[in-house]
Amino acid sequence: MAEVLVLDTKEAGAALVADHIASLVRDNPRATLGVATGSTPLPVYQALGERRAAGVDFSQASAFALDEYVGLPDGHVESYRAVIDREVTQRLGMDPERVHVPDGSQVGIESAGERYEQAMIAHGGVDIQLLGIGSTGHLGFNEPGSSFASLTRVKTLTEQTRRDNARFFASLDEVPMHCVTQGLGTILRARHLVLLAFGEGKAAAVAAAVEGPVSASMPGSAIQLHPKVTVVLDPAAASALRHRDYYRWAQDNKPDWQGI
Ligand code: PGA
Repeated sequence: MAEVLVLDTKEAGAALVADHIASLVRDNPRATLGVATGSTPLPVYQALGERRAAGVDFSQASAFALDEYVGLPDGHVESYRAVIDREVTQRLGMDPERVHVPDGSQVGIESAGERYEQAMIAHGGVDIQLLGIGSTGHLGFNEPGSSFASLTRVKTLTEQTRRDNARFFASLDEVPMHCVTQGLGTILRARHLVLLAFGEGKAAAVAAAVEGPVSASMPGSAIQLHPKVTVVLDPAAASALRHRDYYRWAQDNKPDWQGI
């Protein structure tokens, strides 16, 4: 079962995750981070930036992003390549050569998924994967119906996801229709999954992912198949969990040595 941690604020949740990642990188400077885009992980990157300022060196660490839009012009500010460059690579002082994002250019898109899978496997995989969850329950851009065995490939975004992401673009029409995303099978290969969710808008998806039936109709429920999962929530995102009293009890009585 996933470990569910409910922190008073998203900043507190982000600090907990950042402390864990910082200690991972201190122990293994060449650690590999799985990074996500969207609003949810931003406080984690901010907290990691503070850890960097306090002396944690990310220059030898690597990162793999979950997904990318297909067909945005090269360098588009909302391409995930650009977002990861701003929010992660530059902020943490990572080596751009070690930060990987799926290639969403139209030319050669047929092989983008396979190339990314090969790069991840050749690298040796991801040590810790940060995940948000969409209101549709998606992980990465694996929308409902995605196979739990799926690998990195081109997918069509749902209308809901396009509307959710329209806030980053001038209009809904500008939101791409397609993406390249790590599959659920790819994500499940990471050695530790950390699913973050904040705010009431995520409560239903979180409850379905953590406590609902394991089903391709709820991609987030794939986390129930992974041996090491930490779910980090604020009280609003935790509000629909049936067993939240138990999670709180386990959290309050956790042996200090266990970490996350
Ligand atoms: P958000 O998106 O962090 O911007 O809410 C999460 C997601 O779509 O996976």
